[in-house]
Amino acid sequence: MSTAKTVLTVRHRFSEKAETLKPVEFFKLLRRVFTYARPYAKIRNRLIGAVILRSLLLSSVMWAFGKVITGPIAAHNVKGTVLGTLGFAALAFVVQAAFRYRILWALELGEAVIRDLRNAMFAHLQEMNASFFQRMDAGRIINRMTTDLEAVRLGVQEIVFVCCVQSGQALSTAVLLILNDWVLFLVAITIAPVLWIVNKIFRTRLSNAQRRQSESFSQIAATVAESVDGIRVTQGFGREEHNAELFRDLIENHSRNVMVSARTTATFLPLLELKTQLFTALLLAVGSYRVLHHSIPLGNVVQFLFLSNLFFEPWRVIGTRYTQALTSMVGAERVFRLLDTKPDWTDPADAVELPPIVGRVEFRDVEFGYDPERPVLHGISFVAEPGQTIALVGHTGSGKSSIINLLTKSYLNSGGELLIDGHDIRCLKSQSLRRQLGIVQQQNFLFTGTVAENIRFSRPEATDEEVVAAVRSLDFLDLFERLPCGLQTPVGEAGGGLSLGQRQLVCFTRAFLANPRILLLDEATSSIDAVTEARLQKALAVLLRGRTSFVVAHRLSTIRQADMILVLDHGEIVERGTHAQLVEQNGVYRALHDQFLENTLSQPAPDLPDRPQ
Ligand SMILES: Nc1ncnc2c1ncn2[C@@H]1O[C@H](COP(=O)(O)OP(=O)(O)OP(=O)(O)O)[C@@H](O)[C@H]1O
Ligand SMILES: [Mg+2]
Repeated sequence: MSTAKTVLTVRHRFSEKAETLKPVEFFKLLRRVFTYARPYAKIRNRLIGAVILRSLLLSSVMWAFGKVITGPIAAHNVKGTVLGTLGFAALAFVVQAAFRYRILWALELGEAVIRDLRNAMFAHLQEMNASFFQRMDAGRIINRMTTDLEAVRLGVQEIVFVCCVQSGQALSTAVLLILNDWVLFLVAITIAPVLWIVNKIFRTRLSNAQRRQSESFSQIAATVAESVDGIRVTQGFGREEHNAELFRDLIENHSRNVMVSARTTATFLPLLELKTQLFTALLLAVGSYRVLHHSIPLGNVVQFLFLSNLFFEPWRVIGTRYTQALTSMVGAERVFRLLDTKPDWTDPADAVELPPIVGRVEFRDVEFGYDPERPVLHGISFVAEPGQTIALVGHTGSGKSSIINLLTKSYLNSGGELLIDGHDIRCLKSQSLRRQLGIVQQQNFLFTGTVAENIRFSRPEATDEEVVAAVRSLDFLDLFERLPCGLQTPVGEAGGGLSLGQRQLVCFTRAFLANPRILLLDEATSSIDAVTEARLQKALAVLLRGRTSFVVAHRLSTIRQADMILVLDHGEIVERGTHAQLVEQNGVYRALHDQFLENTLSQPAPDLPDRPQ
């Protein structure tokens, strides 16, 4: 699926969920987000102070403004006017100072909360088992750490406090309005719900039209991305004309949506403004009637009209902000759902450190399935004595990598026992076990950094000399020196920039540098060039020497040299023994072996060039 399309579906689910978040859930999530503000109580309390001050002062400023006009100015009192104006200016100054600190402290608090949440998420992810990462793809995890957390940040830094200030402003203004003319206030708030409904209808029409427009636009973007990604397939099948036609339809549909959206905007935006002005006209009419017939001071009505906007505006702001707040809390919900996901299993509380081992491995009737309903390994029993090389052989899907996965404690066996130097793997601290293992995986992964950094990953304290010594021991030095910057050549995510064979060189050296007692090697099946292949083959002998090794082997020479070959079929060991014994047996292994020979004999033998020694 193309990236654009993924984004599209994610966004779609996002807005759908925002609409279904119940207010109770909303406030629960909000409270939970703010528990992360506890360590920053000082700044949080100061922030609350600034919010209260600003919300009270906003209405006071307008009130002071009205007072200057209806008081000293109306009475032609120059001194009073000057003083009043200065007072108004001073008040305005304090409001903006409160605003500054409200923004500053909210940003600081939000940053602290998000930083802690992000750290908590990352730490949590490190504790999750392999099965979790199998279920949850990288894209979704990245989304949690980025898009969702950024939505929460917006909520914490902006939306919540804007809503608080606005509510405070509405409340304090309400008090002033009642004091000015409570009858006019009653009229205003009786009409308000009607206005609110009209507003909602108009705005729904507007946003529906805009949503349709942006949806059809996303569709175009997704299709362009997919067409570019898949251009080879399109051209290969001669489907250009067909694709162009589909695209024309999409563009036409989008154009239609844009026009509908434009017409709706042109109709409803003026109507929205008109509605507000009509409301003001109504207040003006009722107000003047009150002045003429009930001898209410004119000043009070003027004040009322000044202030009324301060009372009504917040509801509109809160209304729009509420949708944003919902989106923000949907982000929070996803973040918390991830944080609340418990690992499928953890080391028991009394797990022990694995002492330095000699490397004896025993499987006793081991059972295992990724899904408990679907067992993958049955009754696996064997002993690997220290220093032995065990080759795992079998068809694809027969369970070779699964045995390696159990040995690294990435997954737990469901039955039987797995013993390392007599210690049951279940009772060991995973980390202490893995520190004594070296692993070369089927999908050899490299981190962003240099080749040397990737090699050093297995033993960060290793010096440059030790890294070079490891490279030398495996006789890879000339191969690495051929890279643009030698060992300092940068590699991208998943090893971009290096060939498959070169990546294997790095992974071999990485495992060698760790100098583990037990080595696990899940050979990549992908073919690499014959020369590198031959070099790897030679290095393998060095790598395996003196360690207990489990090799998922596709190379016949590795298999031949193994002390024991385990032949797997559908998760069971069907044959075991040395190469000579198994060939003799004339069973599954013999068949695999003959087939292998047939395949390789038709390929040219690796040709090693002469190198200066
Ligand atoms: N993460 C997983 N979740 C569920 N099932 C899995 C998972 N990994 C492997 N399996 C299943 O377990 C069985 C054994 O897989 P395994 O990876 O051990 O095979 P393999 O012998 O290493 O094969 P290959 O030679 O292709 O690497 C297969 O049927 C596979 O479908
Ligand atoms: Mg495998």
